[in-house]
Amino acid sequence: MTVSRHAGNYRIIDRLQLDRDAEISRLIDGLRATPATIEPKYFYDPLGCALYAAICQLDEYYPTRTEQAIFEQYRSEISTKIAEAGNCGTFVDLGAGDCAKAKLWLPLIRPQRYLAVDIAGPSLETALGDMASDFPDTEMLGLVTDFSQSLDIPSALLRAPVTLFYPGSSIGNFTPAAATQFLIEVRRSTQGGGLLIGVDAKKEKRQLDAAYADALGVTAAFNLNALRHINRVIQADFDETRWRHIGAYNEALGRVEMHLESAITQRVMIGGSLREFAAGERIHSENSYKYSRHEFDAMLREAGFSEISFWTDSKQAFWVFYAR
Ligand code: AVJ
Repeated sequence: MTVSRHAGNYRIIDRLQLDRDAEISRLIDGLRATPATIEPKYFYDPLGCALYAAICQLDEYYPTRTEQAIFEQYRSEISTKIAEAGNCGTFVDLGAGDCAKAKLWLPLIRPQRYLAVDIAGPSLETALGDMASDFPDTEMLGLVTDFSQSLDIPSALLRAPVTLFYPGSSIGNFTPAAATQFLIEVRRSTQGGGLLIGVDAKKEKRQLDAAYADALGVTAAFNLNALRHINRVIQADFDETRWRHIGAYNEALGRVEMHLESAITQRVMIGGSLREFAAGERIHSENSYKYSRHEFDAMLREAGFSEISFWTDSKQAFWVFYAR
């Protein structure tokens, strides 16, 4: 773990290198398995972060702007709910990215500490550097870590009561069973505070397919870029021109699936040996689960939350929950 201090009155704690060997073995095992899988975290190298920001600007990709509209409309009402838990000790921003969403909450929540957590260190550094001076009364911390296996935030970084902020429907990347486990860990971390979370709603397949296979091909570039990232992480030799993007709603499973489909029969060097991919064979790169309001409410209750409020847009395309 490395801790660095910066003039702008913020600190970055980097725990990403802690389990690097285990990460690399998991990645190689996933790629050698049939069906092959990679974890969505491999999307987020610096180019991938920029492509995700571009996705959020697409007409087809409604979640970000729908959530934003709900937050805008109900910001003071939601802040009042959060304040019922007392003065926020720590505002934890899970998957903070460029911290743009949190920036709009901090003036209302006024936490003693802001803890931005993300796997992408460079964007976190830039964001905290830019915003630290705007919030002189809040201690600004960045934690570079992968929380997809377990939340595991060092308890020394949490001052009660804790508000966990998990926007964007990133909870959709977990299977429902893993999401429940994650929410149990989240609930433990709140220490009397609560969870503010954004969840994408189940909706028509046509709309979901368009959101994950957009006309400009930005989501395709985002998906294919994971191969370039992986080439650097494990010295593989994926050639992205030989792979096709698939993004489509699996209605039976209630999730959008993204895959990379091999355009031809090919061999790829992975972890020191060749792995053959048949034409049409796929690497499963992401699940994005969609929930009805009742499904997600039930999941929160299963994880031990009992006071639950929610907000939505006029089309009920997206849910925002606050749970304690
Ligand atoms: C960042 C996980 C919320 O699932 O919608 C966007 C990622 N993948 N387009 C999502 C994503 C393809 C996104 N999350």
